[in-house]
Amino acid sequence: MNPHPLKDSLQRSIRDLRISVTDRCNFRCSYCMPKEIFGDDYAFLPKNKCLSFEEIQRLTKLFVSLGVKKIRLTGGEPLMRPNLPDLVSKILSIDGVEDVGLTTNGSLLGQQAKRLYDAGLRRLNVSVDALNPELFGRLNGRGIEPAFILKQIEYAREIGFEIKVNMVVQKGVNDSEILPMAAYFKEQGITLRFIEFMDVGNDNSWSFKKVITKKEIYERLSSIYELEPMDRDYFGEVAKRYRYKDSDAQVGFITSVSESFCSSCTRARLSSDGRFYTCLFASGGFDLRQMLWDGANDEELLAVITSVWEQRTDRYSDERTEQTAKNRNKISMSYIGG
Ligand code: GTP
Ligand code: 5AD
Ligand code: SF4
Ligand code: SF4
Repeated sequence: MNPHPLKDSLQRSIRDLRISVTDRCNFRCSYCMPKEIFGDDYAFLPKNKCLSFEEIQRLTKLFVSLGVKKIRLTGGEPLMRPNLPDLVSKILSIDGVEDVGLTTNGSLLGQQAKRLYDAGLRRLNVSVDALNPELFGRLNGRGIEPAFILKQIEYAREIGFEIKVNMVVQKGVNDSEILPMAAYFKEQGITLRFIEFMDVGNDNSWSFKKVITKKEIYERLSSIYELEPMDRDYFGEVAKRYRYKDSDAQVGFITSVSESFCSSCTRARLSSDGRFYTCLFASGGFDLRQMLWDGANDEELLAVITSVWEQRTDRYSDERTEQTAKNRNKISMSYIGG
């Protein structure tokens, strides 16, 4: 064990690394990649500007040596990155990595779930925002049917994956789906997590008025189900989980807006072009790719990562106001993956 564990300026360690493997996505969710902005001529990162798997593995090793234990692969849509199972194997081969998960829209699982499982991946978080076909098609911006995604989830489960579902809830948009989604996933025994709509990026027309809080969702669920709070699975877990009293199924809430969880935030983020971010709502990140490409050695990279983390002061969700949501220049969700 490291005798001097790395801590930021608020005494938070570094335990999780969320790696974005691509900024591209085949969906156009209005709260993340609105069609009007992410059109045909949108300039995504050129592929030759993205880190190779070897570079990601090298940086991951360094982060692990500083205390990271959990890795999450995100995008954009991570399954759009060719040969992702190769990266999974590379990451799992690193000593000290205890857990690897992947967050996906689920649309490409039919083609890739088996290879990912064979590479050693066991956990998937799949985004599903509605069961109503017309609404789901509109929300994903591509007319994809919910039945198609539910089939991919079933398939991945049959292979052996442990699956959780994420639903971003927007007032007046999909809150009518809270109870149908809860009923469906309870029946399936899959943990559904309601995510409060967040002001990520600069393009998603967020306001407090569009947020349905955990409290409101909980009240709606309580009109039908009896819920019992559960202990968190690990330090810094973002979801608050409950068990339905009449079954083993669970439901969770991710309360970035109504009950922020910055004080236990141990998450670092790495973008696909190799920038190191210390908050989902950051305006800038440290360019590790440039250092790699300039031939930096491991000691130099470690010194920089350590110094950036030690100077970290981020607690955006504690400080959020309508003003910061509008005026602060934030990285986009599709670029950094949530
Ligand atoms: P596990 O608990 O390991 O299953 O993963 P997770 O819940 O951390 O990962 P997932 O990608 O499913 O994240 C769920 C939601 O939590 C997403 O909407 C994220 O944007 C949000 N989230 C995750 N980490 C943070 C964070 O550090 N800050 C904020 N504000 N939101 C976060
Ligand atoms: N607010 C809350 N959650 C969001 N996600 C994407 N954009 C937002 C937002 N504006 C979610 C996705 C996915 C996870 C990585 O982040 O639905 O489940
Ligand atoms: Fe794609 Fe996920 Fe963003 Fe939707 S939320 S556009 S699926 S990256
Ligand atoms: Fe961590 Fe920033 Fe999210 Fe707070 S807002 S929990 S500091 S990523």
